[in-house]
Amino acid sequence: MPLEVRRKLKFDANMWNPSPIPEVTWDTGLKEMNETWKGAIACLGVAVFFVMTIGIIYWQVVDQPNKNWILKGTFSGVIWERRSHALLIHTLSEDKSFVEIDVGDLGAPDVDAPFVRNLCWSNRTEFCYTWDAVAELKISVEEAAEESECYRVSWTPLRCQVELQDCFSMANVSWYGGAAFRTQTWPINAANATMQPFAVSNLREQPAGYGSVLERYFLGSSGVAVLVDPEVPLHVGFDSRRQFCLRTPPSAEQLPLQYTVCVGHNAKSVHQEVGRQLSTHKRVLPNLDILRLPFWKLPVNVDSGAKLERELRTFWNRLKRHHLGEGIIALNEHSTSLLADTDHESLYGKKKAKRQTRDLSLVKLLNISVTLSPFLSVSSRLFHASLQEGTEAYWLSLPAAPRGRPIPQLTQWKGKLCVKLNISNPAAVSWFLDRVGGLHARLAMEYVILEGGEGSPLAEPALHPRKALLSDGYIPLWAGVAASVGDTAIVTSGTRSSHVPLFIRMNPLQDDWSYSGLKGIIPSVLHHSLLGYNFFIPDAVGGSLSGESVADPELFIRWLEIVSFLPVMAFQSPPWLCGDDKVVDLTRAYLSLHREFIVPLVAKYAEEWRATRSPIYRPLWWIGPEDPITFTVEDEFLIGEEVLVAPVTEKGAVHRDIYLPGSGLKWQDRSNGQVFDGGTFLENYAVGVEDVAVFVQRRS
Ligand SMILES: *[C@@H]1O[C@H](CO)[C@@H](O)[C@H](O)[C@H]1NC(C)=O
Ligand SMILES: *[C@@H]1O[C@H](CO)[C@@H](O)[C@H](O)[C@H]1NC(C)=O
Ligand SMILES: *[C@@H]1O[C@H](CO)[C@@H](O)[C@H](O)[C@H]1NC(C)=O
Ligand SMILES: *[C@@H]1O[C@H](CO)[C@@H](O)[C@H](O)[C@H]1NC(C)=O
Ligand SMILES: *[C@@H]1O[C@H](CO)[C@@H](O)[C@H](O)[C@H]1NC(C)=O
Repeated sequence: MPLEVRRKLKFDANMWNPSPIPEVTWDTGLKEMNETWKGAIACLGVAVFFVMTIGIIYWQVVDQPNKNWILKGTFSGVIWERRSHALLIHTLSEDKSFVEIDVGDLGAPDVDAPFVRNLCWSNRTEFCYTWDAVAELKISVEEAAEESECYRVSWTPLRCQVELQDCFSMANVSWYGGAAFRTQTWPINAANATMQPFAVSNLREQPAGYGSVLERYFLGSSGVAVLVDPEVPLHVGFDSRRQFCLRTPPSAEQLPLQYTVCVGHNAKSVHQEVGRQLSTHKRVLPNLDILRLPFWKLPVNVDSGAKLERELRTFWNRLKRHHLGEGIIALNEHSTSLLADTDHESLYGKKKAKRQTRDLSLVKLLNISVTLSPFLSVSSRLFHASLQEGTEAYWLSLPAAPRGRPIPQLTQWKGKLCVKLNISNPAAVSWFLDRVGGLHARLAMEYVILEGGEGSPLAEPALHPRKALLSDGYIPLWAGVAASVGDTAIVTSGTRSSHVPLFIRMNPLQDDWSYSGLKGIIPSVLHHSLLGYNFFIPDAVGGSLSGESVADPELFIRWLEIVSFLPVMAFQSPPWLCGDDKVVDLTRAYLSLHREFIVPLVAKYAEEWRATRSPIYRPLWWIGPEDPITFTVEDEFLIGEEVLVAPVTEKGAVHRDIYLPGSGLKWQDRSNGQVFDGGTFLENYAVGVEDVAVFVQRRS
């Protein structure tokens, strides 16, 4: 043939590093020939060229595998899925998918990246890629631990105002952890939350916000855990049942989005290995005396200390009359300030003692808890004194003008204009601790509940863009203040503070049967335990959100039944306000069940937690981590692995379905002695209004 066409398609066959644009070189040797032939051959050449171009385009765009392995570990690897812009983490044999991460359009809607090529090709444990002047991605596989393998994902914007967002698919994976919600479910797949800063807010005032407890940790039932770096400002949104997304807000500072994804055999083994990074502190038990006595909220609304004392006496007498005497009477913040006598100067200041004449001997005799917060009303005498004494630096302030005095920043707390204690200021903390000491001398209270760690008083993005985003920094500091108050302090929010040996009070619930009310209790218990907050006080029987006493005796009883299996029992309203003698008798019976059966059990598993870090309260998948039925059971829980509790959470129901996990195990009904096999469903199991189904694992 006179025509010699040599085609050189140069491409790197190495699948780690496919070159995106194949190079095509034409080498034609045209010899002398007549015009007709030349014309025909030219036409043929054009046709061949045309066909080849189409072929190359086809090869490039259509025939390319949709998925490329971009990184491989020892048993898993990362696949880039080109059509959906997703990273998939699979087992190497591709028989199991751990997680699908949708990386979206990378902040630049036009970017289409049919190929990704590893710019770190010389390093087999790293994958790097750059989206032109938008963002840089680096994924590295970390050295495998015993049971799990971790990938570190790091996105860096290459210019300012790039919004980085990665979304984790909820299809086929049940997710746990993260934050609490006003409507709490287990798993959290059903949750809805618009994209917002990932910080605890006050759910009374911001029902659509994130509640306590909150950690940058998500666990998926396929055996995957996601840990987001603590330093980056983080926004999170939940798109019910579809996905949840992590985002770093666009900023001038070009903040990166960094997280670690670990995969392993199953959720339990990954949690045991990765979840421990949530808190690397030594495990210390809190004071467990709190388990023994129930908390009774003092159901009054009065306006003077003297009236409050009278009410306290009356309430105490009624409790005794109903043989419910032993317990802690809980005063809210308002009652606390009445008893503390708002003439604070006489209490804490220099001017001594004009009004310290009232005798509080009865109060001292009773076991009470008081409630304090870091907020101080701007109309209080104490605040005016603070301004006069020049201690305005005790309060979170706007930055002062050079050599000017700081201006305390106003914020709202319980409907009042307040300032908030600056607990980074040691002088302010010691002032607060002195105040608590003064209260203790006066009231001899047993417990101090410290509310108000959540929320961001510095939500002033123009002034503190970075700090406003990192607004959860108050909670761990506040927990530290609480620990200085002593082991009888109780906090109401948690973030990076699970190591502080204190009890934590759960979010308030509605007085109904919904997931914002009674059905939310067990999901909350499992959520707290998963994030390492084992020592919690569930919301008061009947729900404390509305502040009203419970009207429905059935709701009261079912609620009572659940919390009697939890560490501490608390009451919003006394049983006699809710029903007849039957309700009071049942309350007494469940209080004694709690004292005799649950308190020793919790103490036993608290020791086990200290030794092994296993939570006290466990989800069913703790026993059946490979059994998909256990992933979504949200109305049963385990205490240790010994006791399974299955309360009724439906209004009007006297039967329920119960799943017993763990094939090969035997479970015995605690009330009638019947024995059942693990791995089975008990359908329509009878559980009367006065009963809870409880099964104890039988060692066979
Ligand atoms: C590969 O990257 C990892 C992580 O950055 C690094 O520790 C390692 O030394 C690199 N190995 C080589 C051969 O460059
Ligand atoms: C979920 O699982 C089903 C059945 O195994 C499968 O067909 C589907 O593709 C999976 N969906 C995702 C998003 O992985
Ligand atoms: C979330 O929103 C969807 C539809 O928008 C709704 O069907 C679902 O009930 C919501 N889930 C919760 C827990 O509120
Ligand atoms: C107060 O608490 C102690 C234990 O801390 C208990 O022995 C005592 O009976 C309680 N008193 C009342 C009045 O409840
Ligand atoms: C809190 O106090 C510390 C130490 O005195 C000070 O550096 C900081 O600026 C204060 N923060 C605010 C927001 O007032």
